[in-house]
Amino acid sequence: MSTVVKENQGAVILDGKAVAAKERQKTAVRVGEFAAKFGRPPGLAVVQVGEDPASTVYVRNKRKSCAEVGIASFAHDLPESTSEAELLALVKRLNDDERVDGILIQMPVPKSIDADRVMDAVDPAKDADGFHPMNTGYLAQKRPRLRPCTPYGVIRLAEHYGIDLKGKRAVVVGASNIVGRPMALELLLARSTVTVCHTGTRDLRAEVERAEVLVVAVGRPEFIPGEWIRPGAAVFDVGINRLPDGKLVGDVGYAAAAARAGWITPVPGGLGPMTIAMLLSNTVDAAYLRKGVPIA
Ligand code: GUN
Repeated sequence: MSTVVKENQGAVILDGKAVAAKERQKTAVRVGEFAAKFGRPPGLAVVQVGEDPASTVYVRNKRKSCAEVGIASFAHDLPESTSEAELLALVKRLNDDERVDGILIQMPVPKSIDADRVMDAVDPAKDADGFHPMNTGYLAQKRPRLRPCTPYGVIRLAEHYGIDLKGKRAVVVGASNIVGRPMALELLLARSTVTVCHTGTRDLRAEVERAEVLVVAVGRPEFIPGEWIRPGAAVFDVGINRLPDGKLVGDVGYAAAAARAGWITPVPGGLGPMTIAMLLSNTVDAAYLRKGVPIA
């Protein structure tokens, strides 16, 4: 019965905001347990270099969310003129600071700074974003440790709604180091059959039309027309794009996609809150790992 309703009325909306709130509740409990055991809360350093307006909003949300679950947040706001050496020196200080379990450098950093060098400098045990090549490598070898937050958020959201990824034809559009590539590794871990599309892909439409699970992370407003969505597909839209009129839209044409999909994430209220929830969860995982306690 419920399947018929779903087909007649369009997609189930994947409520990232609600699921993220549940994840934060679980994290808050683990934060309390950690603090009782070790005499201090888990700590996350959130570093922003420059004043990119979107980054400022994300960083504010991350710090606010830390406070909500009881994680100690250490704010470092550096000017646009910060040199790579200065940022690396801060990363070293944070690596050596016992109160800091997680380190997050908000991307993008100014062009004068080599982002790869900065990510490589973060202690992999404190890599709350899961961006360090060592953590990507662990994920590639199907023994995940600290997992990149947005791809991990997609997996948790799918789990929450009972979307079985095993055996599904999954297509990822976008091959960035922070979303597309680790997303492909997460889907592979979940036993999907995975295709990654990028600027070298010959027939993007044909690939998308085959997708039973579609993840789009390209950062361009409504880049994938909703008409391309395979009927019944699970659609995870990672994009958050602000239009000139101030409206936020994803990377997928939402209205047409929602009429065809089985499940779809809204923008906003989909993967944005899930990403932050997984960051908080990673911070507590990192705190326990640093105390020698394996992740549950
Ligand atoms: N920039 C865009 N997304 C992210 C993220 O998840 N973490 C960091 N550090 N920077 C980002």
